[in-house]
Amino acid sequence: MTNLLSIEQLSAKEIEKIVTLASELKKNRHASPQVLAGQNWALIFTKASTRTRVSFEVGIRELGGSVMFMSGADMQLGRGEPVKDTARVLGRMVDGAVIRTFAQTDVDEFAKYSGIPTINALTDEEHPCQILADLLTIKQRLGGWKGKRVCFLGDGDCNVARSWIWAAAKLGFELVIGAPKPFQPAAAFLKKVKTKHVRVEENPLKAVAGCDVLYTDVWVSMGKEDESAERVKLLANYQIDDALVAAAKKKAIVMHCLPAYRGKEITGEVMEDHAGVIFDQAENRLHAQKAVMVKLVS
Ligand code: CP
Ligand code: NVA
Repeated sequence: MTNLLSIEQLSAKEIEKIVTLASELKKNRHASPQVLAGQNWALIFTKASTRTRVSFEVGIRELGGSVMFMSGADMQLGRGEPVKDTARVLGRMVDGAVIRTFAQTDVDEFAKYSGIPTINALTDEEHPCQILADLLTIKQRLGGWKGKRVCFLGDGDCNVARSWIWAAAKLGFELVIGAPKPFQPAAAFLKKVKTKHVRVEENPLKAVAGCDVLYTDVWVSMGKEDESAERVKLLANYQIDDALVAAAKKKAIVMHCLPAYRGKEITGEVMEDHAGVIFDQAENRLHAQKAVMVKLVS
């Protein structure tokens, strides 16, 4: 593995190995292998972040490396310097890069031109680090994903949903996308994934039936703020509330990648009732990403 650009590009074996290593690193948090000793890593973010930024900064340090955070807007990138030039400069100075931005092609191009390990820390198309942490959480809470049914409710065409779709296709668990027509995964995308493990369901009660995991994400992803009012209106029936939780399997867990907007995609009550799992997910970002970095430099 030379980069982590998407779940699409990972094999089932690679995903399983990352999750297993993440679980080991979590158990021995303060005895982490110093695989990044002597290395400098750059975080380049052109979108806001709390969890991703903190977990990468802490994770890089725990693996023995040094880290610098750069806001994309403050770089020459923000004034139009091409990604491929930025990449060639950084490739001569730093040992790895973690990038959060809009276009997936920018992260792919950075990896190609920099020649250093590059990690996608969220693009409009995918959020692979999130899904790896979520899989670790499901493994810890449910013993694994084999034979489990996950329901993603809300914007079924967003980055997190797309990474879930790739994960289901690769790992073979059942995924139901519960979303209204305008927010269902694009037909061209589903055609590209070509899997029998993903079902799209418009009726939220039918979507959650028989599910072991109810998962949601913000209704208004970064960059979609102009569509806020329309999204909130169209997605209102897909809020995870007590009624939807009751319609899932009896011991179903509720997951949220955060940040959460109570009263929108999830009620305050459900959020607090399931806070144990949800904040495990957030913590697991650290362990999963450390596992990714160990794999990238080993
Ligand atoms: N879930 C997630 O990526 O959170 P941040 O946007 O805070 O990094
Ligand atoms: N879909 C969300 C994820 C936030 C972590 C967004 O892109 O804003």
